[in-house]
Amino acid sequence: ARMALGKRNLVLVGLMGAGKSAIGKIVAADLGIPFVDSDHEIERVSRMTIPELFQAYGEPEFRQLEKRVIGRLLESGPRVLSTGGGAFVNAETRDAIKANSLSLWLDADLDTLWERVIKRDNRPLLKTENPKKTLEDLMIARYPLYAEADLRVKSRDVKKDVIASEVIA
Ligand code: S3P
Repeated sequence: ARMALGKRNLVLVGLMGAGKSAIGKIVAADLGIPFVDSDHEIERVSRMTIPELFQAYGEPEFRQLEKRVIGRLLESGPRVLSTGGGAFVNAETRDAIKANSLSLWLDADLDTLWERVIKRDNRPLLKTENPKKTLEDLMIARYPLYAEADLRVKSRDVKKDVIASEVIA
């Protein structure tokens, strides 16, 4: 898998709770290439948390910052990059990813995503009356865009190593 990647990055896309960071770390270690998480990098450069950024600047500005950060992270491959759930939904960010990387959609069902996201209170988009319904709406709206990824792996409710080995395979 490392040879097949060449200089390209492996970019993990999918909804919040799909396991992009957890699985990305395992995959990167197995392939012997660096791992980077776009949300962590955004927080590092802005010195603000994702909820603070949404609160202070709103989603459109967050998307611009996300696009710039991801554009820069994509420059020096190969890497495994996990992206925030909305990154691949943004046309410009998606085009940048598709230009020099292999994209992989970690596709999980609603209940699996929900079980994972409720463990942490760090998703500004889910601050709604009915967050599970919001998550489902995002799932439906984003489905056709995630489907543009080069590869798709089901992120089932099994050990992350199992999913990581499916990604590598
Ligand atoms: C978002 C997902 C989050 C984060 C932000 C917006 C989204 O990342 O970038 O809260 O639009 O789906 P995770 O997918 O890592 O939770």
